[in-house]
Amino acid sequence: MVSKVVVGPQGPELSELVQGYWRLAEWGMTPQQRLTFLKQHIDLGITTVDHADIYGGYECEQLFGEAIKLDPSVREQIQIVTKCDIQLCGAKYPQRKVNHYDTSSAHIHESVNNSLSRLNVDHIDLLLIHRPDVLMDADEVAEVFSELHKVGKVKYFGVSNFTPSQFDLLESRTHKPLVTNQVEINPLNFDVAHDGTLDQLQMKRVRPMAWSCLAGGELFTGQSEQAKRVRAELEAIRVEVGAQSIEQVIYAWVRRLPSKPLAIIGSGKIERVESAVNSLSIELTREQWYRIWVASKGHGVA
Ligand SMILES: NC(=O)c1ccc[n+]([C@@H]2O[C@H](COP(=O)([O-])OP(=O)(O)OC[C@H]3O[C@@H](n4cnc5c(N)ncnc54)[C@H](OP(=O)(O)O)[C@@H]3O)[C@@H](O)[C@H]2O)c1
Repeated sequence: MVSKVVVGPQGPELSELVQGYWRLAEWGMTPQQRLTFLKQHIDLGITTVDHADIYGGYECEQLFGEAIKLDPSVREQIQIVTKCDIQLCGAKYPQRKVNHYDTSSAHIHESVNNSLSRLNVDHIDLLLIHRPDVLMDADEVAEVFSELHKVGKVKYFGVSNFTPSQFDLLESRTHKPLVTNQVEINPLNFDVAHDGTLDQLQMKRVRPMAWSCLAGGELFTGQSEQAKRVRAELEAIRVEVGAQSIEQVIYAWVRRLPSKPLAIIGSGKIERVESAVNSLSIELTREQWYRIWVASKGHGVA
């Protein structure tokens, strides 16, 4: 059973593993199958779900909302994370000329209202600014966060893909601390472990959320020299620790980071979700952790 953990010094509690719904539109599930998939997660203790307004070309929240409509009682059992600020071009928004970011008060309010209506819920547990917006006015964003909190539409706020200085800038103006920074962490790309991002979060005792832990499947199928080296090392360590699959070693590698990331699972297959849950008992030694680091970098540490 997956435990709940407190992600920031002042909350909230999320499940240690999170289900990501970026690819939901590709899974071809009926509303009933989506509800069953969600209930299977709840039974495993994976109660936190990760969305964004733009996922599936603005479709995924709606697909999820249709499942909730079938059994509204599930709402109280889950924590919904969603994101805003990316504006995509496309048939839904023919007036847009280029994909861009928008952290204006008007856009954040509009995006949250759309998410609430698509998800078919009355509040969001955690709202993230999806990507850093160069035109972000921190005072304006802080004010919107306060307004959304006051009217009960959003309980907590955080960011995604922010540098430490962007995180500090926004947090210097918000009334409550930001509760997470959702960033990419996998054995093919862990820049955040070296550029100060994870250091800052550890310092603040804020737990990151880790996206694309399996590098979007690249760790299984990638043919780059880096992917081949990492796969071979993961397989050697899998045998040593008695894991069922290399993905369990990957999740253990992400979890070994001292900032204690919450891994977001991206699979639409419940057996792979169960495999991620079973990885929680695997502990890697420092040497095993660094063997994956070395395989990824293609050189030693010194
Ligand atoms: N904040 C951000 O900017 C951001 C960016 C990207 C993602 N995210 C979040 O992070 C979540 C996870 O990202 P992700 O989907 O990229 O996660 P991921 O776990 O790295 O990749 C999932 C993909 O890997 C495939 N896969 C899993 N196990 C496999 C195996 N053994 N062999 C071959 N393929 C395998 C899955 O296919 P199956 O479905 O067939 O298992 C799925 O297509 C997203 O849903 C989203 O919520 C956030």
